[in-house]
Amino acid sequence: MNDGEKTKAQLISEMQIMRRQLEHLETLQRQYEKTLRDSQHQLQQAQKMETLGTLVAGVAHEINNPINLIMYNIPLLQKIWADFMPVLKERQQREPDQKFGGFDYDFLTDNLVQLVADMEMAAHRITKTVSDLKNFSRQSNVVEKAPLQVNSAVKNAMRLAQTTLRTSAVEVNLKLGDNLPDIDGNLQSIEQIILNILINAVQAIDHDQGKIDVTTGFRNKDGRVYIRITDNGRGISTTIAEKIFLPFITDKQSQGGTGLGLSVSYSLAKAHEGEIIFDSRPGAGTSFTIYLPSVLKGQAAKILVVDDDNAIRQMLIEALTMDHQYLVEEASNGIEASIKLGTYRPDLLILDIFMPEMDGLELCRIISSEPELSEMKVIVTTGYPEHPKLDEIIALGYTNIFSKPFDLLNFVQALGKILGEKD
Ligand SMILES: Nc1ncnc2c1ncn2[C@@H]1O[C@H](COP(=O)(O)OP(=O)(O)OP(=O)(O)O)[C@@H](O)[C@H]1O
Ligand SMILES: [Mg+2]
Repeated sequence: MNDGEKTKAQLISEMQIMRRQLEHLETLQRQYEKTLRDSQHQLQQAQKMETLGTLVAGVAHEINNPINLIMYNIPLLQKIWADFMPVLKERQQREPDQKFGGFDYDFLTDNLVQLVADMEMAAHRITKTVSDLKNFSRQSNVVEKAPLQVNSAVKNAMRLAQTTLRTSAVEVNLKLGDNLPDIDGNLQSIEQIILNILINAVQAIDHDQGKIDVTTGFRNKDGRVYIRITDNGRGISTTIAEKIFLPFITDKQSQGGTGLGLSVSYSLAKAHEGEIIFDSRPGAGTSFTIYLPSVLKGQAAKILVVDDDNAIRQMLIEALTMDHQYLVEEASNGIEASIKLGTYRPDLLILDIFMPEMDGLELCRIISSEPELSEMKVIVTTGYPEHPKLDEIIALGYTNIFSKPFDLLNFVQALGKILGEKD
């Protein structure tokens, strides 16, 4: 090969690298634009909910006193009426045609007790609505939090829903995750969220093969615990889906639904810095997932595992997340990794060298030129410790090298030291 050809080959290779980096930058740009759009939308939604919360709190406050007065007076009225009956009877015997407020004695004895009982029931319903509204606007009892297990909340909610579940003949399968970290939460509030979603699931099933799965688990990548409730009911109608968390959105008016269940649940989840998302297919079913930050979030170190071999990634993730030591996110090549570096901000990167799309060396070049990533620790893993690419990586300053295959226990121990943890 003469010098001219060598330069040409070099040029082509450099151009290929540049093209890939350009593609990578375009992918990054699209990703950032999407993140920006999503966060603007979320902000608008949050502001809308905030305004609605203030309005609702005001209305709830205004209704609260009058309805309490009514609730207080109804039993008085019932007592007075019971004492009054014999007096009225005596009067009716003396003057059989006497009317009371336009009604005769027989009508009153037949109906008045029921009329007052109906008023009492209606007043109870208003009180319940006011309390839901207060919950929605979070103006009611300040949420007192303590470390708790979401599995306990699920079991309690199941007990509270027992009557509904028994009468509906829906089959409920619990798949509760083992060894979940605690969340810092208010047990009653978490139970209420689960109960609201569970009851909705039961109500959405209108056939006799009803099935509800309640699953709990932990998400390694963001340290959040989740509770997922999946039904095989009718699915959420598109008109409802777009405003489902707003108060008074319901298709159950005739069955007494107020449309407050999910808006209250949304607010309670938000008070726990959590979120509720849903996925629904008309006619096939719905899945609601409640994500709540575990006590590990913000405590455990974040790791990004980059390897194109899925089996190796899963093995590493398993070793690192055992006992929830670390929060772990994964990527299968350099491009995917560089996108995740921007959003996930790991404390440590475990990086394979030979990968399609963008290899470990190219990623190291990008990282070393990015001041914001200078604090991030890097461990390089490779099956080819003799390869010249490794020398280039070391020359860039990345000197934590592990030759594959390695002993997992030693690896996790060494990783702890690199992260600056005590033995
Ligand atoms: N699992 C589900 N499947 C289908 N539709 C659902 C499901 N969960 C909620 N919905 C829809 O969302 C609406 C709002 O639910 P939400 O719990 O807020 O109020 P509601 O159940 O109608 O009344 P309330 O909970 O106040 O008694 C429901 O009326 C229903 O149309
Ligand atoms: Mg409901």
